[in-house]
Amino acid sequence: MQKLIIKGRKELSGKISISGSKNATLPILAASILTKSVKIKNIPLVKDIFTMIDLLNHIGLKTKLIKKKNTIQIYNKDKNIHTLAPYKLVKTMRAGVLVLGSLLTKYGKAKVSLPGGCAIGTRPVDLHLFALKKMGAKIKIKDGYILAEAKNGLKGAIVRFPSISVGATENALLASFQAKGRTILKNCAIEPEIKDLINFLRKLGANIILKGRTIFISESEIRRLKVTHQVIFDRIELGTYMIAGALLTEKNLTINRIDPKIIKSEIDILRKIGVKIAQKKNSIIIKKSNRFKKVNITTKPYPGFPTDLQAQLMVLLTQVNGISRIKENIFENRFMHVPELRRMGAQIEIKNKTAIIKGPTKLTGAEVMATDLRASVSLVLAGLIAENRTIINRIYHLDRGYEFLENKLKSCKARIKRV
Ligand code: UD1
Repeated sequence: MQKLIIKGRKELSGKISISGSKNATLPILAASILTKSVKIKNIPLVKDIFTMIDLLNHIGLKTKLIKKKNTIQIYNKDKNIHTLAPYKLVKTMRAGVLVLGSLLTKYGKAKVSLPGGCAIGTRPVDLHLFALKKMGAKIKIKDGYILAEAKNGLKGAIVRFPSISVGATENALLASFQAKGRTILKNCAIEPEIKDLINFLRKLGANIILKGRTIFISESEIRRLKVTHQVIFDRIELGTYMIAGALLTEKNLTINRIDPKIIKSEIDILRKIGVKIAQKKNSIIIKKSNRFKKVNITTKPYPGFPTDLQAQLMVLLTQVNGISRIKENIFENRFMHVPELRRMGAQIEIKNKTAIIKGPTKLTGAEVMATDLRASVSLVLAGLIAENRTIINRIYHLDRGYEFLENKLKSCKARIKRV
């Protein structure tokens, strides 16, 4: 089993380029079922993307991944299609459930494994099914699978989500694209990744208008059979390296290939803590900060502070003067990095949904275990600032979502290696 070994306390300086967004690529890959031929650029070469490609191949699409160019070409010739997403693929990557909306739209039926729980919580898909049922899909759950059918096609409907869900909004978008009449989705997630999916669907011919948290979709035909799309940058990867820079840069850490406008709430919070950030059109420079101030933060759907950066921010807050609080409002069990950070010397207490972080504390290297994608990267950040050596086990979690992590950090002088 592979491990990461980090020798901490080495200042970071140099340049890092941000990869394409995993969470934007996944629904766009699911949407490629709707097309004949699509080229998607700037996709990150990470495990979750490979799993989604395996799923598309399993369904019967033809895929050609050009790794050197971070590009994939996908063809759907409508031959030998299986409208099935099997357990073995969906259990390792929940986003597999996103093929449900596309398969129903294109083929009028789908059998998709229920994803089950995961380390950070139960993560049901009831909101996905709620929207599809409103659009006329007949849905049954049998033997761990969602059996969905819309023999005569889906129908436009008004769907008000009882709570905000990224995945459910994406599935509903994929299902409503060719539904008869007009669909209005209310109380939607409006993450930049959803806007990227909408841009992709518009290229296919979709007529979609986004107003606040409401999305209006008129019945659309596929107008273009060949589409090229460039995926947006990964804002969570950017936030992670901004925090690394805040913790460790003596000179400057420049982060390229981004759009600072998209991560305004993260920049505002880091500035409030005392992180010095210079913004340019397509880059951000993190400068040496002298003193960090405490903050209280609650994770929220976009444009609020993202749950996917909560674990990383917590590491920064261990270096802040005073007591900070983070309330995790999205997932019920997303503090699994806390016991590992405590083993490295952090003083963190958990009360219900809130982590109370006392700082500043000196962290010391230890052997720790990664538990999920973002928790793992928080341990990398902790290892980078800790005295002595940190060994991180179970790093396959990291490989699900961070492209070239060690190389990017090494190029900024970090002492990190995989064994
Ligand atoms: C997506 C992101 C993930 C991020 C999360 C929240 C992808 C591939 N993953 O996950 O990185 O952490 O958004 O920003 O884009 N819920 C229900 N019923 C449902 C669906 C969700 O109760 O049918 C709950 C979830 O358990 C969770 C909350 O709603 O508590 C938000 O989940 P959701 O926004 O759906 O997250 P994902 O789309 O799974």
